[in-house]
Amino acid sequence: MNAVEYHPIGIIHTPFKTPEGTPIQPPGGMDDCAVVEVFPEHVEGLRDIEGFSHIILLYHCHLSGPVRLTVKPFLDDALHGLFATRAPARPNAIGLSVVRLLRVEGGSLFIREVDIVDGAPLLDIKPYVPKFDSRASERTGWIEKQAHRTEQARDDGRFSGK
Ligand SMILES: C[S@@+](CC[C@H](N)C(=O)[O-])C[C@H]1O[C@@H](n2cnc3c(N)ncnc32)[C@H](O)[C@@H]1O
Repeated sequence: MNAVEYHPIGIIHTPFKTPEGTPIQPPGGMDDCAVVEVFPEHVEGLRDIEGFSHIILLYHCHLSGPVRLTVKPFLDDALHGLFATRAPARPNAIGLSVVRLLRVEGGSLFIREVDIVDGAPLLDIKPYVPKFDSRASERTGWIEKQAHRTEQARDDGRFSGK
């Protein structure tokens, strides 16, 4: 198939300078604030976004490593298929994070609950709508067995990408 080309619509500024030490998922970055800078030509598209408590950010994981189709994810010691994980080193290194929107000032979105490395090129923003995006799922695969580990890591402050 032909290549698909996207151009960043902004840039994500966060306190995390390297993948190591960045929270594994947004809830791990509960207390950390960040700013999404939307480029001037796209700012008009932000109208009404302040009405949403959470937004979905799609971005390029610009510091991701070489692609491997099986990976040991942060929360497990066993190998899993890449597409059964949220590991950033993917054939198309697209990250997806649901973050809390604190306020909007012009083209700047002030956010919290961030698991994104500083400087990530922003590809898209969508409103998070529980009716569309939240499901009562019956199975969560290998992560089910690691639920206790996630909680433990959160509790003792090790909920990072180290
Ligand atoms: C497990 S991934 C999950 C990312 C996103 N929530 C998702 O599900 O697509 C989170 C980890 O990706 C890495 N990461 C985040 N932003 C990145 C970037 N711009 N480039 C490379 N790695 C990144 C950090 O190590 C972070 O701990």
